[in-house]
Amino acid sequence: MSTTTEERLIRPARNIVGSLRLPGDKSISHRYGMLAAFAAGTSRFTNFSTGADCASTLACMQALGAKVTRTAESAIEVTGIGGKVVPAGHPDYSRHSLDGALDCGNSGSTMRMMSGLLAAQDGSFTLVGDESLSRRPMERVRKPLAEMGADVVLTEGHAPVTIHGRALKAVDYTTPVPSAQVKTCILLAGLQTEGTTTVREAIRTRDHSELALRAFGAKLTRTVDSVSIAGPQALHAIDAAVPGDISSAAFFLCAAALFPGSNLVLAQLGLNPTRAALLDVMTALGAHIAVLDLEEKNAELVGTVQITSPPEGLGSTTVSGGLAAQLIDELPVLAAIAPYTSGGIRIRDAKELRVKESDRIALVVKNLRAMGAEVEEFEDGVDVPGGQTLHGATIDSGGDHRIAMAFSVAGLRAEGETLIQGAESAGISFPEFFDLLDRVAER
Ligand code: S3P
Repeated sequence: MSTTTEERLIRPARNIVGSLRLPGDKSISHRYGMLAAFAAGTSRFTNFSTGADCASTLACMQALGAKVTRTAESAIEVTGIGGKVVPAGHPDYSRHSLDGALDCGNSGSTMRMMSGLLAAQDGSFTLVGDESLSRRPMERVRKPLAEMGADVVLTEGHAPVTIHGRALKAVDYTTPVPSAQVKTCILLAGLQTEGTTTVREAIRTRDHSELALRAFGAKLTRTVDSVSIAGPQALHAIDAAVPGDISSAAFFLCAAALFPGSNLVLAQLGLNPTRAALLDVMTALGAHIAVLDLEEKNAELVGTVQITSPPEGLGSTTVSGGLAAQLIDELPVLAAIAPYTSGGIRIRDAKELRVKESDRIALVVKNLRAMGAEVEEFEDGVDVPGGQTLHGATIDSGGDHRIAMAFSVAGLRAEGETLIQGAESAGISFPEFFDLLDRVAER
């Protein structure tokens, strides 16, 4: 793992003005990359995520025998393995590197979703990750896969994950923690397993896997709180444009909302209802959001979003319950702008933040305090009072992309300059972040 860290200086801004088309959604890109690699035929994607996490997925898929070609900056072609990892002894075996571990880098999505894909394949696989990923809980995928009869061995609950693939049995599983990664893991195992596999969830998590599986030709049945797949099923290749990433957009929407003179348009943005709760929260805070040109692409909703901020500034809100689960990736930036609201932001039921790429609650608290803010820490969230003035500070991103970007946004309205340490981590999901921020931030 590289230990070099980059610093970025954030100067205060006056406004956020302009029009952007954001790079492809990370969650959707992971799924398109993985399903295309598993399918038969060649899939073509435009606006595929340029982040390091999706590159980890593609590299693993290549190691499993898929062919990935970059045809333009963010366009790729993936030729799939047709449902079976190339077995040892096959003439094509030498072109992939299964003798080595599959490196998931910083990407929890890659490790958890791929575990389901591999548990039902012939062969043994070892999945490793970087220091942060190697600390994250993997029991949540081992347990349902074990119920399906899979042989998955963890290292004290974490990566490295060793999977000895075999034929599985269908399962009816209720996820104890809301997690789209775990749901996807089980569905990908179920896709290859005789019988009907059902995943039930108390809080509905993002449904990109369900939509993508259908786009690739699989049949699924869904109820309000469950999804079932009858396996085994084959997938076919698709052509798709990946919608802009709404979790990346969150940094720009929150930045724009900080300044009454802002006017920002984000085109071709993914607006899947299981991901778009941020728009409601921004509206509750008083921002004005307009959604234009809504259309459906491969069952994903895509549209243009325009945000302007009210002259009186932002109000206050609470994010808790199911909303906290749906907004889990956006909570760091919401907390980071909270001091600039009039009434503050209260976040609860977000304990999962502690086991993301970093302990995001601890780092949000540490960095808000470094900027002079008052904030109260809870096991499952924070209370950030409004009406505060922050000063620039040195920010510890902890190598976590969302912390680095969240505090770049907080720095835009601080007094003085803010130094983001570990700024290169933005590249995990959004390598273009600092360039695009410079493009729309008026100083
Ligand atoms: C993701 C699901 C969420 C989210 C992560 C991406 C996905 O994680 O935080 O950034 O693409 O399925 P969990 O499944 O752990 O909630």
